[in-house]
Amino acid sequence: MKRNLLIASLLVIAQSLMAACSNNGQRVDESSLSEPSGETKTLVAYFSATGNTHAVALRIAELTGADIYRIEPAQSYVDNPYDDSQLIQDEAYGDLRPEVANLLPAEDVARYDTIYVGTPLWWHQPAMVVCTFLDAYDLSGKVIVPFVTYGARTYLNEAMQKMFKCTPNSVHVPSELPEDIDPDNIREPQDDDDGIDMPGNARGVEEWLQRMGLIH
Ligand SMILES: Cc1cc2nc3c(=O)[nH]c(=O)nc-3n(C[C@H](O)[C@H](O)[C@H](O)COP(=O)(O)O)c2cc1C
Repeated sequence: MKRNLLIASLLVIAQSLMAACSNNGQRVDESSLSEPSGETKTLVAYFSATGNTHAVALRIAELTGADIYRIEPAQSYVDNPYDDSQLIQDEAYGDLRPEVANLLPAEDVARYDTIYVGTPLWWHQPAMVVCTFLDAYDLSGKVIVPFVTYGARTYLNEAMQKMFKCTPNSVHVPSELPEDIDPDNIREPQDDDDGIDMPGNARGVEEWLQRMGLIH
């Protein structure tokens, strides 16, 4: 009996320590992913098919205290998005705008000053449903911080260029991108992502936010 009690106590202590180590900011309530509270001036809006961008988005929200919102496509992709590769390429190369199932009301988005916008790199472009989200609002003067997860990082610049293009009147972090690619040429991958700082996964988020001057 005493031994069971000891084991139970050790488990509770271990769990508390793990929670404290894994979370330097506030715990994010994942049930609120479609209904941001509107109590902060910062929003993390992202699309994720297999969870990598989701993990980065959660970490950003934890560290910045931001609201978080998951962009859901009206037409879901199959569980393994590589099986939807042709559709995804068609959307990217056709610069299409797949419908969003859960667009936020414009007046809710207007309340935010800073919006982190996250996407996987899909055929060296953002997931086009993220562009549908960006096109749906007047984001003039708002600070837009794109973040991208990827398999190989190659062609990251092209996805960033596209997100900048979809938010022409916003203030961007970083403020500039390497210019030596043609942002309108989306069919031929152009390999230049020199100088783009991106965390890639959740573990790198804290130092990335610090390097970008977004947290101290
Ligand atoms: C159809 C498809 C196309 C992809 N294209 C690229 C690419 O061009 N460059 C790259 O680095 N990764 C590419 N990836 C890998 C994803 O960007 C990477 O796995 C990402 O972290 C997935 O994010 P998620 O888990 O949030 O969906 C592709 C993945 C899929 C399914």
